[in-house]
Amino acid sequence: MSSSNSQQLAIGLLIVIVGMLTMVTLVTSAAQHNYADALSKSILFFEGQRSGRLPPTQRMTWRKNSALRDGLDVKRDLTGGYYDAGDNVKFNFPMAFTTTMLSWSVIEFGKSMGSELPHALEAIRWGTDYFLKSTSVRGSVVGVVGDPNGDHICWQRPEDMNTPRTSYIVTTQKPGSEVSAEIAAALAASSMVFSASDKAYSMLLLTRARVFEFADKYRGSYNDSIGSGACPFYCDFNGYKDELIWGAAWLYKATRKPSQAFAYNGGDVTEFGWDAKHAGINILVSQWVMTNPVESNPFIPKADALVCSILPESPAPKSVTYSRGGLLFKIGSNRLVEFTKRQVDYILGSNPNSMSYMVGYGSRFPQKIHHRGSVIPSIDQHPKHMQCHEGDMYFKAQTPNPNLLIGAIVGGPDQDDTFQDSRCNVAQSEPTTYINAPFVGVLAYFNSLFP
Ligand SMILES: *[C@@H]1O[C@H](CO)[C@@H](O)[C@H](O)[C@H]1NC(C)=O
Repeated sequence: MSSSNSQQLAIGLLIVIVGMLTMVTLVTSAAQHNYADALSKSILFFEGQRSGRLPPTQRMTWRKNSALRDGLDVKRDLTGGYYDAGDNVKFNFPMAFTTTMLSWSVIEFGKSMGSELPHALEAIRWGTDYFLKSTSVRGSVVGVVGDPNGDHICWQRPEDMNTPRTSYIVTTQKPGSEVSAEIAAALAASSMVFSASDKAYSMLLLTRARVFEFADKYRGSYNDSIGSGACPFYCDFNGYKDELIWGAAWLYKATRKPSQAFAYNGGDVTEFGWDAKHAGINILVSQWVMTNPVESNPFIPKADALVCSILPESPAPKSVTYSRGGLLFKIGSNRLVEFTKRQVDYILGSNPNSMSYMVGYGSRFPQKIHHRGSVIPSIDQHPKHMQCHEGDMYFKAQTPNPNLLIGAIVGGPDQDDTFQDSRCNVAQSEPTTYINAPFVGVLAYFNSLFP
């Protein structure tokens, strides 16, 4: 897993920006990129991250069943869900954020997804089925499955894992407001996704989103409650207040009933990602404040400040910098759409390296991504079980990964636009679910503009 890469941030910002702009008509040059192809691949990627028993419809066939005993240590069925990145741990905090962002992508742009929409719904359901299991015992929420330290020592296919699959659970005595509230956000957002196509499932998700009350009533960070399950991997650096507000905002969006009143000043909006939600909160709330004006609100000014502070010509103090090739680095109008398109096109190959940072898209893309399943030959080629270190030789090999994790967007280039296609360079070469999830919505949007 990589918690500090740049594309995660850039792409996270893209969807919140594009989310504001669906009404804008655009006059630009013809598309250089095949957004339909990229969209389809960005969703396919999630099949490569699946944990549990795979369905007969599985398209990424080099992956097989894995982690079928998850939850056994606590006498529960906790199979399913997603591995977060290039390892085999199920981190529910970023997994829930991924599911919220996939849901937001469908809520905003599902109508532009065409034949990909069913696949997007499947990707969301793979997360929500698991979150229903993670929240099935009242007064508790599963935070992580799989001992991250044990997992990270080994370079092993998920199908072969024999590292400890410890279940880390937050409770009323040992709470975890960030992970519980983010799961509530994912359940509320996904309930909106399924409201037309599967009413019963949608109701089930919305009912379970009441886990928000647990998150809010028993306040504390999972940092302290589950220790090495969370830190230093997905430590809640930013605190849990943003997730509480984010969860409440999604519940409000799904039910139109205020679940909780918070005094809120809009927070720090320079970032948006699996840990920092303030930017997303301001955009989300601005959408309904614009149609239901209230006398004073911090949301629209904060949302504007976010959007303006990232533009290169912005007079405001910039919260981000740009590489020489033009990639938005760390940190409404045609200009914003153009700006977003430039970011998307960069990632798809319009950059100084003429390289796509999405695996399997275009003619040049990363060949040695940091991902256990992609690096080690699949069960089809190498059926024999491999122990903890038996995969090391494949990690060290100079040859490309044998299994294409199609659609995976990697961490990406450095600030000088250079990219090292190396399994050792985790920040650049590792894909994560929460990079891809918001990108799905952005690609659907550009696919509708340039069909
Ligand atoms: C979680 O732990 C990290 C690292 O020690 C720390 O920076 C952060 O403030 C902690 N978060 C909370 C909410 O306690």
